[in-house]
Amino acid sequence: MKEQLHALEKEALQKVGDATSLKELQDVRVAYLGKKGPITEVLRGMGKLSKEERPIIGELANKVRGNIADAIDSKKASIEAAELEKQLEEETIDVTLPGRPVPTGGPHLLTSIVEEIEDLFIGMGFEVREGPEVETDYYNFEALNLPKGHPARDMQDSFYITEEILMRTHTSPVQARTMNAMEDKRPVKMICPGKVYRRDTDDATHSHQFTQIEGLYVDKNVRMSDLKGVLDRFAKQMFGQEREIRLRPSFFPFTEPSVEMDISCKVCNGEGCSVCKQTGWIEILGAGMVHPRVLEMAGYDPKVYSGFAFGMGPERIAMLKYGVDDIRHFYTNDIRFLKQYHQA
Ligand code: PHE
Repeated sequence: MKEQLHALEKEALQKVGDATSLKELQDVRVAYLGKKGPITEVLRGMGKLSKEERPIIGELANKVRGNIADAIDSKKASIEAAELEKQLEEETIDVTLPGRPVPTGGPHLLTSIVEEIEDLFIGMGFEVREGPEVETDYYNFEALNLPKGHPARDMQDSFYITEEILMRTHTSPVQARTMNAMEDKRPVKMICPGKVYRRDTDDATHSHQFTQIEGLYVDKNVRMSDLKGVLDRFAKQMFGQEREIRLRPSFFPFTEPSVEMDISCKVCNGEGCSVCKQTGWIEILGAGMVHPRVLEMAGYDPKVYSGFAFGMGPERIAMLKYGVDDIRHFYTNDIRFLKQYHQA
């Protein structure tokens, strides 16, 4: 019996040694130490032994059991440690790998340009105002010296909602609204950025919806030279100190005299190129001295007050400043276009 137990021990320890997984180890435990295992079997035969032999074999059997159990436990610990080691190895982080970039948003190019222009005029003492995009015929046209039937209404094909209500075709109605709102008729110095709408067919330079920034300065003794000074400063700050401006006679029903302002072409420095159509100049905005009728309708006495107004298109300014060749880029939201203008 002794030999039998020793043989079983040897056999079991061999199997424990060979086991490579926890599952195999468990199988060894069940096979040798389980109720139906060979050691239990041996012990069952103890009845046939003599009194003297019984405790010796019993002790040996317990020792063999204990040895096998200890071997299984220590093997289990080493398999578990190896598995943990393997898992840690697989999960190690390679800190030298490049990080995944987190995409960040940024202001739209048009928003940036409008804010830049706002800051520039705020620096010259203008305040920023707003007006409604859905406008009355009165403010969009009549209060700007464009009575019903006036041929210049055709200059701007409009989206009418009713006969008296339309989508504003320019930001100029905010001139009349601002002056009207001044109960005490004090001087006005404001700019107004906003969306405007026209019945245009969209192409590279036209859009049925675009942006304008209106400017209005009404006070005593406001002169054309003030207009020129403000616009010159604007042009130089926006496009560079070396830019020159020129004012060409033009026509708007709400200003008299009316002008269009050009800046010297920054691509060719006034020499003439394809951007400025060989003229050396690029048209930027419309402006003029506020028409006495407009002042009067808004309750300002044109004998006491005078003023200037201007209107510009930020899309056009952004296109010139950044060489954007199609106005539709501003509205089609192609992230590849927009991303180029995100400042960090
Ligand atoms: N409202 C004019 C336009 O839409 C621009 C303008 C504004 C001209 C103010 C003169 C004065 O074209």
